[in-house]
Amino acid sequence: MILVTGGAGYIGSHCVLSLLKKGEEVVVFDSLVTGHIETIETLKQYGKLKFVRGNLQNLSEILEVFENNDVTSVVHFAAFSQVGESVKDPQKYYYNNVYGTLNLLNAMLQHNVKKIVFSSTAATYGEPEYTPIDEKHPQNPINPYGSSKLMIEKILDDYDKAYGLKSVRLRYFNVAGADSESIVGEWHDPETHLIPNILKSTFSGGKPFAMFGDDYDTKDGTCVRDYINVEDLVCAHLLALDYLNSNGATTYYNLGTNDGNTVKEVFSSCELVTGKDIPVEIKARREGDPAVLVADNSKAKKELGWSPEKTLEQSIKSAYAWEVKRH
Ligand code: UFG
Repeated sequence: MILVTGGAGYIGSHCVLSLLKKGEEVVVFDSLVTGHIETIETLKQYGKLKFVRGNLQNLSEILEVFENNDVTSVVHFAAFSQVGESVKDPQKYYYNNVYGTLNLLNAMLQHNVKKIVFSSTAATYGEPEYTPIDEKHPQNPINPYGSSKLMIEKILDDYDKAYGLKSVRLRYFNVAGADSESIVGEWHDPETHLIPNILKSTFSGGKPFAMFGDDYDTKDGTCVRDYINVEDLVCAHLLALDYLNSNGATTYYNLGTNDGNTVKEVFSSCELVTGKDIPVEIKARREGDPAVLVADNSKAKKELGWSPEKTLEQSIKSAYAWEVKRH
């Protein structure tokens, strides 16, 4: 049985869906602070899924999951992930992300479970020194969210050396889209991400889309990001589990497309996909946004045999179908 923490959230729910469709038995552990019970109810229709509501900050709650289930490996998504909030309230991030993970690892070691796939982030690299960013790029996060994820990466290295716990850390760039059947999708409250925010502005009563800065040193003045489709991203998690199951060593991979799009390009693509003129307002730059973030994904391609296949337009189409369904 595979334990998925944070399986009621955006990326976690897509991973659970893929695991269930593959015939795996899954137990989801989620506090439902940012995840949704409706997502769990939907996912239960797709296979053998058990749900436990609990918080990783309570060791006894996660220990109980290992006591009651035959967990063989873990995919660990559960975390707070808003960069701006992490600057305002770092304690929330270090307690939840770092301390919560320490409890999870404690429970794993007590039950001799020694394989974990961990959601890390491009935010561990901080302000890029060069682009595209490969895994050798220095990791100097510039906000508590990125720091919390980097601390966990270091803890995982030490736990491998001392206890033989094997991990694959996946450093996500900008995750986009929803599953192609609109079973699950992106559902954050509040929403801070680019594509859902643009799409929200297409619905009546929606506010104009706020574009944060058009004076960056890029081809059209707006920030460049590497948008990786959520289904492609989830494929890498399944490959990482296979890798660990065949005794793979602890490692880490960037998950992105090797290609970047500006905010204006994403906006135009959203207009094209929806067939609507989307209201937009140019605002000041958002604090902490680097001009360009693009992944060099060759390590994951070479070693995991992973290859992202979906285009930005496909991600926007699936995200839009999901937003329409929700409305
Ligand atoms: N943007 C807007 N308007 C919005 C939302 C975003 O113009 O309403 C712009 C941002 O300024 C940025 C780009 O769109 O230039 C992408 O912003 P997102 O918030 O969608 O994504 P980020 O690149 O800020 O964040 C992502 C992940 C984080 C991770 C970070 C790594 O969502 O979890 O990459 O730096 F930490």
